[in-house]
Amino acid sequence: MANSSSATLRIIKPAVILSRIVVGLTFLFSGFVKGVDPIGVSIKLKEYFVALGIDILSPSSSLGADFVTTFSIASAVALSIFEFVLGATILFGIYRKLAPTFAVITMLFMTPLTLYLAIKNPVQDCGCFGEAVVLTNWQTFYKNLILTFAATILLFYNHKVKELFVKSIRWLPTMFSIFYILSISILSYLYQPVLDFRPYKSGINIREAMKQEEVVPEYLFLYEKDGEQKEFTIDNAPMNDPTWSFVDRIERLPEGVEQKEELDFNVRDNDLDITADILSDENYTFLLLVPTVEGYDNSWDDKIFNLYDYAFEHSYNFYALTPDVDLLNDRLNGMGISFPCYTMDETVIETIARGNPAVAMLKDGILYWKISPRDLLDMAQYETDIQSTPLDVVYEYNHGRRYIIILAIYILPLIFLYLCEQAVVLLVEKVKAKRSKLKEGKEAEERQKTTQVEDLDNTNYKPKNIKTMRKNIVAGNWKMNKTLQEGVELAKGVEAALNERTPNCDVIIGTPFIHLATIAATVDTKKLGLSAENCADKVSGAYTGEVSAAMVASTGAEYVILGHSERRAYYGETAEILKEKVLLALANNLKVIFCIGEVLEEREAGKEFDVVKAQIEESLFNLAAEDWSNIILAYEPVWAIGTGKTATAEQAQEMHAFIRKTVAEKYGEEVAEATSILYGGSCKPSNAKELFANKDVDGGLIGGASLDVEQFMGIVDAF
Ligand code: 13P
Repeated sequence: MANSSSATLRIIKPAVILSRIVVGLTFLFSGFVKGVDPIGVSIKLKEYFVALGIDILSPSSSLGADFVTTFSIASAVALSIFEFVLGATILFGIYRKLAPTFAVITMLFMTPLTLYLAIKNPVQDCGCFGEAVVLTNWQTFYKNLILTFAATILLFYNHKVKELFVKSIRWLPTMFSIFYILSISILSYLYQPVLDFRPYKSGINIREAMKQEEVVPEYLFLYEKDGEQKEFTIDNAPMNDPTWSFVDRIERLPEGVEQKEELDFNVRDNDLDITADILSDENYTFLLLVPTVEGYDNSWDDKIFNLYDYAFEHSYNFYALTPDVDLLNDRLNGMGISFPCYTMDETVIETIARGNPAVAMLKDGILYWKISPRDLLDMAQYETDIQSTPLDVVYEYNHGRRYIIILAIYILPLIFLYLCEQAVVLLVEKVKAKRSKLKEGKEAEERQKTTQVEDLDNTNYKPKNIKTMRKNIVAGNWKMNKTLQEGVELAKGVEAALNERTPNCDVIIGTPFIHLATIAATVDTKKLGLSAENCADKVSGAYTGEVSAAMVASTGAEYVILGHSERRAYYGETAEILKEKVLLALANNLKVIFCIGEVLEEREAGKEFDVVKAQIEESLFNLAAEDWSNIILAYEPVWAIGTGKTATAEQAQEMHAFIRKTVAEKYGEEVAEATSILYGGSCKPSNAKELFANKDVDGGLIGGASLDVEQFMGIVDAF
C-alpha cells in the first residue's frame, strides 16, 4: 500500500541529505571565512554600498566615516554569524522548517542581486567567501542557482529526514555555533585574522616572491584546417599556408612554471621607489601600516612610540606607510611628533595586515610578523622581556595545523554532544524496556489472581490481559470537509508534526475518497496511516457514484471506516449492508474501523448495551477469528458526536469493557484482548488523556479536532 510513497521517499531522502550537505557546508564555509576576516568583509561591504549607490553609507556620508566603518564591521560580524549558524542548523537538520525558510529567503534576495552584479559588474569579486575562494560574479550567480534549488528541496522535504540533534537539545549546538563564530570574529578583529588567506602570510620572503613573478609567458598560435584545430609555436606556425586559418593567440606559462600570487609591495618616497631598500635591509625594519589617515585609531599611540624609540635607539628603520603622506604628516605634526612617512597603496596595506594601524616587521625581505598595535610591548618590557620575547620570532603560519586546530575546536564538542545524546537515548530506551518488563510481570501476576475470583458480570468486564497487547490508535475522521488542496496541506501538516515527535500510538487520517490517492503519494503512509470513510457493498459494476473496496485499496489507503452513525442515519446503512461492506473491505486487504454506538433515546431507555451488542453481532459475528486482527472497533455514542458532550471516562470504560467482553464471549479472550477499541465523540486534547487512561480505551476516532493539526496532535500527545 505504501509502495508509491516509500518509492518517493527513496528518492527524497538522498536528495534531502545531499541538499543539507551542499547548502549547509556552503553557508558554514561562507560564514566562517567572513568571521575570520571581519575587517576584510567590512571593506567589501563598503564597496557594495558605493556600487549600489547607498549614499548614506558611502565614505562621504553625513553620518561620518567612523559610523560607516563601525556599521560595516558590525554588519560583517552579523552576516558571518547568520551564515554560519544557518549553515550549521541546515547541516545538522535541526530547525527543519525555519532554517530552510531563511535559506530560501536569503537565496531569493541574493540570486537576483548576483545576477545584477554579473551583468553590470560594479564589484569585481563578490566577496561571498572572503579572500579564501575568489569567484567571478557569473560563477557566484550559478553557485546561487544551485543553492536556491537545494534550499527549495529542503523547504519542502527537510522534515522527511531525521535531525542529528533532538528537539530538546537543538539549542545547544546552535548557541555553541554562535559562540564559536563570534569568538573567531572578535579575535580576528582585535588581532589579525586567525587564518590568513591573503598573499602576505608571515614567513613569506617578499623580495623572492616578487622576483619570481617575472615569468615570461610563451605564446602559441591556434590554427584551424578542415574543422580541426592545432596549436603552433611562432616558429612553425603555418602563416603562409592558405589551407590553415588563424583562430587565436594563446598566452601560457612555460611547462612546470606556476604563476605566483601577485605581490604589489611598492613603497615610494615622493617619486623615488624605495621598495628595494626596504626589502634588502638586513636589520629589523618596522612598518607602521596606516591604510587611511581618517580611520586611524590612536588608542595605541604610546606603544607605537615605544617601538619607534626602541628602533631609533638601535638604529633600526621605522617606516610609516600610508596612501596620503601629507595628511599623515599633518596629523602627526598636530600631535607634536614625526615619523618617517612613505607612500603605499591603500589596498596593498590592507592586504598585508588588517587594522588601522597595524604593525609589521621585516628583515632581509622576509615578513616576520604582523600584529595589531595592542600586541606591542610596553616600554618597560623592552628592557626586561626582549630576551624572552625576541623580536625575530617568525609567527609562521602553518596553515594545515591551524585549520585542524580551529576545526577541531568546533567539531569535537559537537561530536561529544552527539555521543552524549545517543547515550541518553539508549539509556532511556533500556529503562523503558526494563520498566515495561516489570509491569508485564506484575500484571501477569494480577491476571492470574483475578481469573480465580472472576465473576463475569454483564456490564463490568474485567480485562484478563494487558492493554499493551493491542495497539493504541488515534484516527482522524475528516468527514465531508476539506477540498483536495486543503486536505493535502492538512495531511502534510500532520506528517510534519509527527516527524517532530515519537508518538506512542498509531496515527491514522480518514479522508474523503478524492484525497486518498494524492495523500498516499504525498505522505509516508507507514508513519501516517490512511483510511477511507466508506466503501461500497458491491464488488463492481453499474452502481453510479459508488467507490468499491478494491478502488480504495488501489489508492494506497490501508483502512476504511465503516458503520459510522452518520452513514447509518443519513444513508440507510443497515447491519446487513455493513456486513457486506466489511467482508469486501477485508477481502481487499483493508483494515476496518467499525463504528458502533447508541443514540440518546436508547441510552435514556437503558438500552445502550443491547444496541451496541446487536450492532457487533449483526455485522461482525459472521467473521472468522483470524479476521479480527484486521478489525478495530470504535465506540461512538451518537449523542456525543459533534455535540461537545463527551461520555465520561467511566461511561466510556464501562461500555468498552462490555464490548471487549462481548467479543471475548464469541471469539475468546485472546481475540478480544488483541482488539483495539477506540472512543469517538467530542474527543479533544483537553479530555483525551482522561479517556485514554482507561484500560479498555485504546485510543480515539476524532472528528472535528482532526481538522486542525495542533488539536489533533494534542490528542496524539495524550498517549
Ligand atoms: P467529533 O469528534 O467531531 O465529535 O466526531 C466524532 C466522530 O464522529 C468521529 O468519527
